Amino acid sequence: MMGWLSDWWSGGSPVVEPAALRDAARLAQLHGASFHRGWGEAEFEGMLSERNTLVHRLKLGRKVIGFAVSRMGADEAEILSIAVDAAYRGRGLSRNLLLIHLGHLAGRGIRTIFLEVEENNAPARRLYERTGFGVVGRRERYYKQPGGEQLNALLMRRDLS
Ligand SMILES: CC(C)(COP(=O)(O)OP(=O)(O)OC[C@H]1O[C@@H](n2cnc3c(N)ncnc32)[C@H](O)[C@@H]1OP(=O)(O)O)[C@@H](O)C(=O)NCCC(=O)NCCS
Repeated sequence: MMGWLSDWWSGGSPVVEPAALRDAARLAQLHGASFHRGWGEAEFEGMLSERNTLVHRLKLGRKVIGFAVSRMGADEAEILSIAVDAAYRGRGLSRNLLLIHLGHLAGRGIRTIFLEVEENNAPARRLYERTGFGVVGRRERYYKQPGGEQLNALLMRRDLS
């Protein structure tokens, strides 16, 4: 579906904007549904109040359906987390979310961005490759699953010009 028809179907056009303190509960809910070790509402409140942390929310109509979080230090930043509600995945929404987030990091004087991604996380790896990140390292058995399985992490980097 294209244009107005898909907007109507999905409840509006996607919008990416800075998250506010009042989003903490919803962001914790989205995070908990996407990752084994979820971050609580208090953790999000902390991050939303810190000057060195940047948080964007993805909205569709009145619903918050995704977020991106990164931490800045000097001219470097690390993407700590990005997620889209499972019901809205596979529509390419994360790409715009990440690109806008990166634009804001550039505006804050950030020159280099790092992130870690689980080696088998195909959608996330594809997202990062498509937005200009390259693999710069690999960490064996870095993530420990609740079931005891240990998964490898890739370290990725992108320079902003
Ligand atoms: C990673 C995530 C944010 C991507 O969001 P999304 O809006 O669904 O992303 P997209 O629809 O743009 O899909 C991303 C890419 O992965 C591809 N993809 C999707 N599912 C895939 C699969 N199972 N295998 C391989 N590729 C897949 C898509 O085709 C797309 O590639 P393309 O741009 O070349 O078409 C989302 O899957 C998510 O929230 N996952 C859980 C949290 C997570 O893992 N975050 C990243 C932690 S580092």
